[in-house]
Amino acid sequence: MKHSELIKLLGEMSLEEKIGQMCQLVPDFLGKTGELTGPLGHFVLNGNETKLLGSVLNANGAENVMKLQDEFMKNHPHNIPLLFMMDVINGYETIFPIPLAQGCSFEPELAKEGAQVASKEAAAEGIAVTFSPMADMVTDARWGRVMETPSEDKLLNYLFAKAMVEGYQGDDLTKKGNIGACIKHFAGYGAPEGGKEYYNCEISERTFMEDYLTGYKGAIDAGVTMAMTSFNSLNRIPSTANEWLMKKVLREQLGFDGVLISDWAAVGELVNHTIAQDEAQAAELSVNASVDIDMMTLCYSHNLSKLVEEGRITIEQIDECTLRILELKNKLGLFENPYKDASVEDEKKLILCDEHRQKARKAAAKTMVLLKNDDKILPLDLNKSTAFMGPYADNRQIYGAWSWVDNENAIKTVREIAGERNIKVSFAKGSTVLGAKNRVKSYTEQMTEQEENKLLEETIELAKCSEQVVLFVGEYRLQSGEASSRTDIELPKIQQKLIDEVSKVNDNVVLVVFAGRPLVLTDLLPKVKSVLYAWFPGTEGANALMDILTGEQSPSAKLSISFPRCSSQCPVSYRSFSTGRPSDANAEFNYASGYIDCPITPLLPFGYGLTYTDFEISKVTLSGNTMTENDTITATVTVTNTGGREGEQVVQLYVQDVKASVIRPTRELKAFKKIKLSAGESAQVELSVSEEMLRFYTRDMSFKSEKGLFRVYVGFDSTTDNFAEFSLV
Ligand code: BGC
Repeated sequence: MKHSELIKLLGEMSLEEKIGQMCQLVPDFLGKTGELTGPLGHFVLNGNETKLLGSVLNANGAENVMKLQDEFMKNHPHNIPLLFMMDVINGYETIFPIPLAQGCSFEPELAKEGAQVASKEAAAEGIAVTFSPMADMVTDARWGRVMETPSEDKLLNYLFAKAMVEGYQGDDLTKKGNIGACIKHFAGYGAPEGGKEYYNCEISERTFMEDYLTGYKGAIDAGVTMAMTSFNSLNRIPSTANEWLMKKVLREQLGFDGVLISDWAAVGELVNHTIAQDEAQAAELSVNASVDIDMMTLCYSHNLSKLVEEGRITIEQIDECTLRILELKNKLGLFENPYKDASVEDEKKLILCDEHRQKARKAAAKTMVLLKNDDKILPLDLNKSTAFMGPYADNRQIYGAWSWVDNENAIKTVREIAGERNIKVSFAKGSTVLGAKNRVKSYTEQMTEQEENKLLEETIELAKCSEQVVLFVGEYRLQSGEASSRTDIELPKIQQKLIDEVSKVNDNVVLVVFAGRPLVLTDLLPKVKSVLYAWFPGTEGANALMDILTGEQSPSAKLSISFPRCSSQCPVSYRSFSTGRPSDANAEFNYASGYIDCPITPLLPFGYGLTYTDFEISKVTLSGNTMTENDTITATVTVTNTGGREGEQVVQLYVQDVKASVIRPTRELKAFKKIKLSAGESAQVELSVSEEMLRFYTRDMSFKSEKGLFRVYVGFDSTTDNFAEFSLV
């Protein structure tokens, strides 16, 4: 449709029809069932809410969606098609590793490929827009949704958000297999006090502008079609009602011109937030903040018309919101092709097809991080008697929250894959995932304490007579994700006991950890020879894992988030700030910044990860020791694979602004390059620093660089002390 036709259509629509466009409900209200990803509330519908609805979330299945669309359009006065949206986060039915794991690949291209697979499958099922990517910056692993972000780091957040939008949307939304993306959750949702879910985030303007906005910007730079408001309040103003945040920052400063949707029921929740006295005021505040679509409340549909009548909001505001929604539908080609790409045939062809599975397997192998590997116990020498043990050795639930797994049988367990490959290992379950007493949603496995004890005894006996043991442990899959914040982020106690007992009788233990967040591994690391962090790797996780354990693939991932030493050390990040009393690891009780019972540094730093070979790096050299504004400085290192096999390494460049008008991070990731070298091979790696990379919000809040000394660190993780200096003149 031409723009002029859209304007004409808008002109012909009644106020009620326009308001309908601004409402989104689950299909349950249209007589079909859909997944509920939030509370249903107590809705009283008067009929027109569903007849004039603009969009639906969580309806899927080509046949289902086409039927819904047909029935709906027939009864709509202007036959305006519905927009179908869904949370397609890390894959649709072919599940990829959780976003946090994907960040560890340090390969945004991999996330793009994953998003392409997801969009093809979702599009075939009738989905036109996904509520992804999430780019909330998170440094607190207690927050359950840490699994949904690619990294604690803003550069990675930027690159991954951008890549994912490019993957979903392609270059033309009307093309088959491309769907719209929605950046979320705007803004600052990842910084709740103490990691508490749905809570206030207190972030200074400087930190917010400089750090927290970067990820969202990545998606906007890639032309993301939609944005979602966050549940939290930012500096005590709920986002959904924050006019400054949505209009000034999101639309004006970041240049977002797409459709803004509330999060689930977030408009109505303004009453709970105690900033709206009733649903009418909640709607008024949200429209004033330019929130175009009210997801899952009736605040808009029941109040907007009256608010216009009373002059509390204007018809121009309604028109503006409606036009943005119509424009999106038009960009997706829905007026010409209301089913978008829904196709029963394509569904059969694409969902879980070989090509998608292969890509998911590659992605999973590239996201598992090798944290320890004493005596090079990995890859496994399968000539030794080997036991696979633990609650995840024969468990399909190795996919994270936000996985639309219709059929868990599409996922194979580690045990099944070992069987398929004729790998000779013995098995013992060891324990359940959570043990007898737990309160975790939808966890059903129950055993008496006696049964658990018996299981443990059998397992210890097997460990005694095995030359090596691989212990598959982890969080329960819904212990991380939305509404799954924890104060204690250790492994479940029953599994800690299992590790203790097994490691007492066997010196050759490899730990494989499934998780949605960095868990506290402080006491566990010394007890075992090796730790492979598998995250929740998805549909092909077991295959990828076996590829790594057997050495068919080498691990190449690096931590995209720091691992804390204990739960109360959260939040922790490599991007710490200079203080008046810098901590000194060698001094005790020295009035230095930090704690008296725990070092200030994380247990495992950002950027860290081992592989099956060894690398050396030369001293970094710079192309000059001064730089002017229009110049770049090139940092050069020579990297050598000194081990016995091919491997990949991520060369990381961090910058420290040595003196500035405000406190600067002690170092900040500015560039990186992933390289592959065969045994004995060397390569020269060059990474550039530009003036633009040195900009920050200065004392007077202008975004610019300041002249002076800069330190450039280049190494294999964020603790490297390989540096050189230059001056910006
Ligand atoms: C989540 C969003 C999600 C939405 C729709 C909310 O509870 O915060 O991330 O997109 O539900 O399912």
